Amino acid sequence: PLPGAAPGPLAGRHVLVTSGPTREPIDPARFLSNRSSGKQGHAIAAAAARGGARVTLVSGPVEIADPQGVATRHVETAQQMLAAVEAALPADIFIGAAAVADWRVEPSADKIKKSASGAPPTLALRENPDILARVAQRGAGRPALVVGFAAETRDVLAHAQEKLARKGCDLIVANDVGAGVFGADSNEVHLVTRTGVQSWPRLGKDEVAARLVAYICESLAAGGT
Ligand code: CTP
Ligand code: CA
Repeated sequence: PLPGAAPGPLAGRHVLVTSGPTREPIDPARFLSNRSSGKQGHAIAAAAARGGARVTLVSGPVEIADPQGVATRHVETAQQMLAAVEAALPADIFIGAAAVADWRVEPSADKIKKSASGAPPTLALRENPDILARVAQRGAGRPALVVGFAAETRDVLAHAQEKLARKGCDLIVANDVGAGVFGADSNEVHLVTRTGVQSWPRLGKDEVAARLVAYICESLAAGGT
């Protein structure tokens, strides 16, 4: 902040954000991943820093720059993301904007070769830890506010309500990823809590981030979501 400026609404708070995809190796040359650009999560981290928070961002592999004024930790896999999140706790607010790969492969030390028989290899998938659920379900030391995202291609609100309950978080920011959201600069989101749904018009991802930080400040001031 500028000298003499009023402290931001998040002054004294630690905000922990995950962003981007994770990348799960198959062999030294190949990986499983997804289309997340990191734009929304990085914008949220930047907005929280502008609000005066101390911000830690745990980012998967993205092509965009580290946000200004944010301590950024770079990881590849979901397991590394979980370890970096646990190392960064405690936090007052956790925002899980990363598109964590749901499955990983036991990676092969050598590049997998095509077989003479022509039979394709079988990838044995194992489920990754759910970072958001782990944070939301911590006992002592749980952040006061735990926010998740839900990327859906249909029945957006029903799936978001189910995730809110299953994971035990306080707020789900749901978006329809069927409609060219990945990599885009705008986003149309619905804020789903136990008490209702608030839908926002299509906005730039920076504007979604600024409004989300303002919403979080209001709900903390009101004592929860
Ligand atoms: N998430 C996470 N760790 C995982 C999977 C998801 O932390 N292993 C978080 C995401 O960061 C997001 C939220 O959980 O905040 C919802 O992610 P999403 O992929 O929509 O939900 P899933 O529970 O993985 O369900 P599905 O992909 O089957 O819809
Ligand atoms: Ca998922």
